[in-house]
Amino acid sequence: MRFSLRGLITDDLAIDLGTAHTYIATRGRGLVVSEPTLVAIDRNDGEVIAVGNEALEMLGRSSEEIEICSPLDDGVVSDFDLTARMLSSYIRKARGSRALFSRRVILGVPSDITSVERHALVQAVQAAGADKVHVADKGYLAAMGAGIITNDERASMVVDLGAATTQMAIVSRSNLIASRSIRKGGADMDLAIIDHIKRYHNLLIGSRTAERVKIELGCALPIHKIPTAALESTKIRGQSLLKAVPEMLTIVPQEIHTAIEPVIREIINAIRRFMEDLSPEVAGDIYDKGLTITGGGALLAKMEERMASELNLKVATVKDPRASVVHGASMLFENPMLLRRLSRQYS
Ligand SMILES: Nc1ncnc2c1ncn2[C@@H]1O[C@H](COP(=O)(O)OP(=O)(O)OP(=O)(O)O)[C@@H](O)[C@H]1O
Ligand SMILES: [Mg+2]
Repeated sequence: MRFSLRGLITDDLAIDLGTAHTYIATRGRGLVVSEPTLVAIDRNDGEVIAVGNEALEMLGRSSEEIEICSPLDDGVVSDFDLTARMLSSYIRKARGSRALFSRRVILGVPSDITSVERHALVQAVQAAGADKVHVADKGYLAAMGAGIITNDERASMVVDLGAATTQMAIVSRSNLIASRSIRKGGADMDLAIIDHIKRYHNLLIGSRTAERVKIELGCALPIHKIPTAALESTKIRGQSLLKAVPEMLTIVPQEIHTAIEPVIREIINAIRRFMEDLSPEVAGDIYDKGLTITGGGALLAKMEERMASELNLKVATVKDPRASVVHGASMLFENPMLLRRLSRQYS
C-alpha cells in the first residue's frame, strides 16, 4: 500500500447512497461502511433510534412505537432529514477519530434524475458534514469500479442492476459516451412476488420474505430451460387473507420466475432501447467487448445467460458487483483530471 501525506491528513470519502444499501470507502482504507439504507424512528418524538444493520434487525418485528423506513426512494431522497441523519452516522463511523483537514466526498447519482433531486442528494451529504461534494454519473463509476475501462478510447458498456434503479452506461477511457437510468430494479421484483403470492395463494408476505425467496429461488430463465436446475422449494410464512391467521406455504422456483419475469423483461427492453441509439463504431466495440453487469441484481441466478441470449452479447458479472460504484468513486479520486472532467463540484 502507498502512503502519502495527503492521504493521511485528508478524509476523502466515496459514497454510494443506494436505495437498499449504502457503501462508503475512504482513500487508503478501502470499504469502511456497508450497511442497509434504513433508519428506525421513534414515532412519539421522531428521534432516530437506529440505522443500518441495527434498524434491519427490527424490520417487521418492531413495536407500534417504532417505524423502520428507507429515507430514499427510487435512488433519490424521499426524506431529507432522515437521509442526512443516517449519512452523518455512517460518515462518523467511516472517519473514526482521524484529524481532518479536508472533507471531500464523491457521490454517484443516477443519470436520469432531475436537478432538484440531485440537489437534494448533495444537500443531504453536506448536511451530514461534507465540505465539497463531487457528483458523478453512477454508470461511469460502476464501469470504473468494474475495471472494464481500457487504456484506449474504445467503448465499454455496463449495466448496474440496483434495488430501485437500473443504470446503463457506455464509457471510454476519458468519456461518458451515453448514460441512462430507469426506475426499475430488484425491489420491484420483490413487490411482484408479494403481489403474486397474494393473488394466487391469498397469503400476505413481508418484503424481507419476498426478497429472501427471490435470492433463494429466483431465476432469470424459465426453469424448464435449465437442465441442471435443482427442484428445490422453500417454505414461506405470512398472514392468510381468508382466515386472518398466520399460514405457511411451499413455493417452487418456477412460480418465482413467473412473478419476476415482467420486471426482468422491462429491464431488458430498456437496455435494448438504450442500445438502439449507438453509433456503428460504438456498437462494434460493445459487440467485441461484451456487456458487464454490476449491482445486486447481477447476482440473480442465470442473469448473465438471460442477458446474453436476449442482447446477443457476451455478458460478464464482476466480482463483488454491489460495490462497483463505490470502488469506481474511490478510483476517480486518484485521477484529478478525470475527476474534474467527469464530476460536478458543489461546495
Ligand atoms: N443473490 C441475489 N439474487 C438476486 N437479487 C439479489 C441478490 N443479492 C442482492 N440482490 C438484490 O439486489 C438489490 C440490491 O442491490 P444494490 O445493493 O446494488 O442496490 P442499491 O445500490 O441499494 O439500489 P439502487 O442502486 O437502485 O439505488 C436488492 O433488490 C436485492 O434484493
Ligand atoms: Mg446502486
